[in-house]
Amino acid sequence: MKTFIRKWLKERLDIDALDGAVKKQLEKPLPGYIGWFHTLGSMSLFLFISQVLTGMLLLVYYRPTMNEAFESIKYIMTTAYMGWLYRQIHAWGANLMVIVVFLHMLRTFVTGSFKKPRELTWSVGVILFVLTLVFGFTGYLLPWNQLAYWATTVGTEVAGAIPGIGEWMKTLMRGGQNVGGETLSRFFVIHVIALPWLLFFIVSLHLFLVRFQGIATLDRVGEEKEVKKDSGIPFFPHHVLKEGIVFFILLGVLITLSILLPFDLGEKADPLQTPYAIKPEWYFLSMYQVLKYFPKLTGIFLVSLAPLFLFLWAFIDRGRERHPLKRPFSIAFGILVMLSLIVMGTLGYLSETKREFFGKTYEFDIYGVPHQVIESHLSPSDHKET
Ligand code: HEM
Repeated sequence: MKTFIRKWLKERLDIDALDGAVKKQLEKPLPGYIGWFHTLGSMSLFLFISQVLTGMLLLVYYRPTMNEAFESIKYIMTTAYMGWLYRQIHAWGANLMVIVVFLHMLRTFVTGSFKKPRELTWSVGVILFVLTLVFGFTGYLLPWNQLAYWATTVGTEVAGAIPGIGEWMKTLMRGGQNVGGETLSRFFVIHVIALPWLLFFIVSLHLFLVRFQGIATLDRVGEEKEVKKDSGIPFFPHHVLKEGIVFFILLGVLITLSILLPFDLGEKADPLQTPYAIKPEWYFLSMYQVLKYFPKLTGIFLVSLAPLFLFLWAFIDRGRERHPLKRPFSIAFGILVMLSLIVMGTLGYLSETKREFFGKTYEFDIYGVPHQVIESHLSPSDHKET
């Protein structure tokens, strides 16, 4: 059968040339130092594919209208065959994808892989990271629950404060003055049509660049030695096997998280009832917290500078060393950025909540500053986390 298909194809296509190209790619040796961290890129790809597949399953029952969105997700979670599982895998997949894409970016930063001649691969990667965040932002609204509704209200409000184009952008995103059915339709179209295709084409460009230029070694810029077959690691089967292993682990993690820590649907969106302390998704928390410390315009300026700076990073850090131990300043800078993201994110997470530490109750204000609450002023229900 196999020979018949091959003969049939051969009579019509130059499959020997195709065979040769595939063989060349599979046998291409990778630098000897690469290990598990070099599977983060393919893990990002795996998660993207998993999101597309589970997203398609969700689309069978999901209805993007104000009256039906919440109920349709509820139906998926309670009645549709295996609906609870693919909804949870999709929700967890979105969160893991942000983490994995970020870690992949961090890996290429630490190993200096973004340097010449791979600046474009880096900048295209930053676009992929931003698109992954926009995926999260648009998808968050789709279940049409209270959290999503108010987080989107706040998120679009922030965009509205941008000088000049802000009001126009806010109305464009919301499709009117307030978040409503129009917003849901727009976010839906962006989430299920525009973004998947955009990501598909940009990921293809990214992978083409990676394959075309080969994986970076740790040599100084301009002194990269060609990876030889005997000193390098063959892409197939060695690295491909490693990728297979991490795919199964990821799948296991996704299913385990979906079963043990399922996402709650919460309450249906109610535009008339503003909840206390509205917060965005965890990956926007640090950005949101920074906005609180500065006057509106300064905050927005600072926050929008970050992606631009990241996009241009490969053109800013032009030192020739790639090895992390020989780049103390850029690595120290990277650690500083990571620390500020963690600190800001934690402050954002704690802000406007009441929590108990070592038997004492603290109320965290909007800036994340703790104030001890004197016990006698508390009613029993105040002891709970808010
Ligand atoms: C959906 C998102 C992404 C996918 C699917 C993806 C996929 C990949 C894959 C499969 C590789 C080769 C293996 C590896 O190094 O892990 C790679 C390499 C690379 N990626 Fe990404 N990537 C994504 C996002 C990003 C981001 C956000 C950045 C940085 C801002 C980035 C920068 C790079 C660079 C510089 C390389 C070359 C690495 C080297 O030569 O050592 N990528 N990417």
